[in-house]
Amino acid sequence: MFRSRRYQAIPLVFFAGFVFLVTFYPYPLARTTFLLASSLQSECYSPIPIASEHNNANANAALSYKSTTIPDGAHANGFTIFDNLYLRNGTLFVVTANVEAFPAKEAILSAPLDMAAGRENLPTNEHMQFIDPREAKGLLGSQPPLYIDDLTVIVYDTDQFVGHYYHWWGELVLGFWRVYSMLGESDLAFPTRFMLPFIDQGRWRDDAGVNGPLLRAIHPSLSVETLDQWKDFIKLDRTVVFNRVAIINRQAGHRHPLARKYSKMIAPTMELEPSSNFWAPLQKALARNLLGYGPFSEMSSKNLKGKNLKSKPKPIVTYVSRQTAKQRRLMPKDHQDLVRGLLQLEKEGLCQVLIPEMERMPIKEQVEIASRSTIMVGVHGNGLTHQLWMPSSPQSAVIEIFIPQGYLFDYEILSRNMGHQHYAIWNDTVVTYPIGTTHKGTNKPPGFQGNNIPVHGPTVIDVIRQRLSAKGAGDNNSRMMKHKWVQAGA
Ligand SMILES: *[C@@H]1O[C@H](CO)[C@@H](O)[C@H](O)[C@H]1NC(C)=O
Ligand SMILES: *[C@@H]1O[C@H](CO)[C@@H](O)[C@H](O)[C@H]1NC(C)=O
Ligand SMILES: *[C@@H]1O[C@H](CO)[C@@H](O)[C@H](O)[C@H]1NC(C)=O
Repeated sequence: MFRSRRYQAIPLVFFAGFVFLVTFYPYPLARTTFLLASSLQSECYSPIPIASEHNNANANAALSYKSTTIPDGAHANGFTIFDNLYLRNGTLFVVTANVEAFPAKEAILSAPLDMAAGRENLPTNEHMQFIDPREAKGLLGSQPPLYIDDLTVIVYDTDQFVGHYYHWWGELVLGFWRVYSMLGESDLAFPTRFMLPFIDQGRWRDDAGVNGPLLRAIHPSLSVETLDQWKDFIKLDRTVVFNRVAIINRQAGHRHPLARKYSKMIAPTMELEPSSNFWAPLQKALARNLLGYGPFSEMSSKNLKGKNLKSKPKPIVTYVSRQTAKQRRLMPKDHQDLVRGLLQLEKEGLCQVLIPEMERMPIKEQVEIASRSTIMVGVHGNGLTHQLWMPSSPQSAVIEIFIPQGYLFDYEILSRNMGHQHYAIWNDTVVTYPIGTTHKGTNKPPGFQGNNIPVHGPTVIDVIRQRLSAKGAGDNNSRMMKHKWVQAGA
């Protein structure tokens, strides 16, 4: 009883307070309301800064839509950097009086549908429009657009391919950095956010569970936004402007003749000529943030645990074994011979040999091994994506074992980007291509995915010996970056 009486008293006290305020408040309530409604005309009103004008709080300035540009021409099929790109109701708008200066829409993006043989998925006006500055107010509204700062990366794709270590890092991110690097040689800002407008929360993650953690390790403050955040903007019925944004789209990449030839979405980016160490900032950030040391020049004086060494350590040769994988295993005896050969090299003091089963290791150890390796050996497979964290040097190499005559460009194209020499091994045959040439087309003969892939151990060991004694003359693969990736036939 007593308690409920006290609660009844509370509204009474509030009501009394309200009556007091209304009676004695220096400004009548009616006037306060009037001020809010007509604030734009009022002299004592100072406008609330609007998101799009964070550098310039003058909300009364005449609204004009800045033209969209592609800074430094940073574009290859499927990878385009824009400044001042607009978004309204889910449609991207390029505001320009000079449409001819832009690549065709289908070289930029596609309808966000799964890829399938014979399905073009051509983009329509629902996805992207080029509009004249004079049309902008009519189409984008007369309110200032909401401003999205820094650098955004939009992966304009479904979840068909993204949830895979190679596809995410070796294609989307690598291709993006290659094109983005056209903006300058050093100190490029890292992206602030990834937007995945057509992918549900979590569906971009890979089974091996490395994509997300690596992203955090390289840029800890980066956010990944998915479908629901994109829908928020659509619901607002307002225009959004991206300060700087990369649009990535797989099928647009594949529309390029080079991509058709090599069956790789980043093939068109190989025509650009960024600085040869454009990827180094990511390698350095990963080593520093995850392992706690770096840059790489310092690493040669530290052991695997990051402790200082008295003498220079031996180069590390890493054999990424697939012998417990479901497919693409070596013939057991050939695997054993290869391991024996590698251990012999170690015994001779030429190198340290590691034979990790990467997928069973904590991510930190995987990165540590990769970032300290000089040579990586393995059957064609996702483990070779780890070469992305292996520093380039005159000795650095990737030795990829295929079934004889088999050839895919996945890991060769990474090696060319990283500055590692790439060798394909067809049992006892070594296949490697100098600057400006490569294998003629892809080939997946029977047994390509099978578990009876032969390899002649001594052939691999010979390549490693040669490579470890390379002084950098001749096969300095980092120079490949300065050359167009053209086909010269096998
Ligand atoms: C927004 O986009 C949807 C889908 O493209 C379309 O059906 C709708 O008419 C658009 N709304 C406005 C206001 O433009
Ligand atoms: C692989 O090469 C070795 C050495 O030349 C040869 O003896 C062996 O028969 C080859 N294996 C296959 C499957 O071709
Ligand atoms: C490899 O090539 C680069 C670029 O031409 C050059 O700066 C570097 O010194 C070369 N390395 C060696 C060891 O020759």
